[in-house]
Amino acid sequence: MSNTIPTITVMGATGHTGGKIARRLLAAGAKVRALGRNPAKLAALERAGAEVLAGDTCDPTFLAQAFRGADAVYTLLATDRRAPDYRARQDQEGEAIAEALRASGVRHVVALSSLGADQGEGTGVIAGLHAQEERLKRIAGVHLLLLRPVSFFENFYDALGQIKEAGLMADTVEADIAVPMIAADDIAAVAAQALLARDWSGVAVRELLGQRDLSHTEVARILGERIGKRGLAYVQLCEADMTGAMVDAGLSPSFAGLYIEMTRAFNEGRVGPSAGRNAANTTATRFEDFAEEFAGAYAAM
Ligand SMILES: NC(=O)c1ccc[n+]([C@@H]2O[C@H](COP(=O)([O-])OP(=O)(O)OC[C@H]3O[C@@H](n4cnc5c(N)ncnc54)[C@H](OP(=O)(O)O)[C@@H]3O)[C@@H](O)[C@H]2O)c1
Repeated sequence: MSNTIPTITVMGATGHTGGKIARRLLAAGAKVRALGRNPAKLAALERAGAEVLAGDTCDPTFLAQAFRGADAVYTLLATDRRAPDYRARQDQEGEAIAEALRASGVRHVVALSSLGADQGEGTGVIAGLHAQEERLKRIAGVHLLLLRPVSFFENFYDALGQIKEAGLMADTVEADIAVPMIAADDIAAVAAQALLARDWSGVAVRELLGQRDLSHTEVARILGERIGKRGLAYVQLCEADMTGAMVDAGLSPSFAGLYIEMTRAFNEGRVGPSAGRNAANTTATRFEDFAEEFAGAYAAM
């Protein structure tokens, strides 16, 4: 790493990973260009010292301006879960990002992908991330770090309303299979370190499996105990009921279909790490730590 202060562009800076990455980079003294779509939501990062830029992730001209001159860029597909054709939207965003990276000449890119993105089909939402990995790999002259984390702990915030109203948690994932899950901040720590160090070359892949594997039964037990609902149940829904619930909640049928396909891939053991769990792919934050935060959000409802 050179001694000059790096400029780093962070996409999705008001989201789960981008927000935490931007704050970690600011704390380390980097110049941060924080991207989002809502100036009001970006204001806190501006107060923290970031240059904030609001625009659409499907606009390659906006993205190229935001990327140009940066020492490194953090990219993700920010696809709206209400998009009528989620997969087409992933491709549109992905093309815009690739075009902007080519136009801007950025050399180091850390891209958020997912475990399972080694496969091009049968994994729902994740197949769109596979396509983006392939797109980014084709850009000449870019040193690309592909981060492949597992499900975020923060996904369980989507269950807050269900717990409050129905007194249970529900999804299509099998209740008792243990799957890896991770805190968004553990991804942010790895991404920020890489964006600052820029110490890899060519295409590198980093799988991130969180602190341990957890079943949804165990998740419900931990969250239930922490929010004062001991015995909170996890119920495995059939695919049709889950699709109906997602569409009723405002998500597009297209996204719901891809989500269901993804959970089927988890249930059938088709999404997993390339090697077993080890020190390099295991991260620190325990689900119990997240449960504290979750309880705060539940109490505030
Ligand atoms: N959740 C998981 O378990 C998981 C696991 C592996 C990989 N992933 C991947 O992670 C990615 C999402 O990352 P994340 O969770 O860090 O982000 P996130 O919390 O979903 O936030 C998305 C960010 O992008 C912004 N955004 C959304 N639409 C935009 C648009 N049209 N133009 C400009 N900005 C826009 C959002 O702004 P607002 O704040 O204004 O909405 C927000 O800053 C997805 O590609 C997903 O497939 C997720």
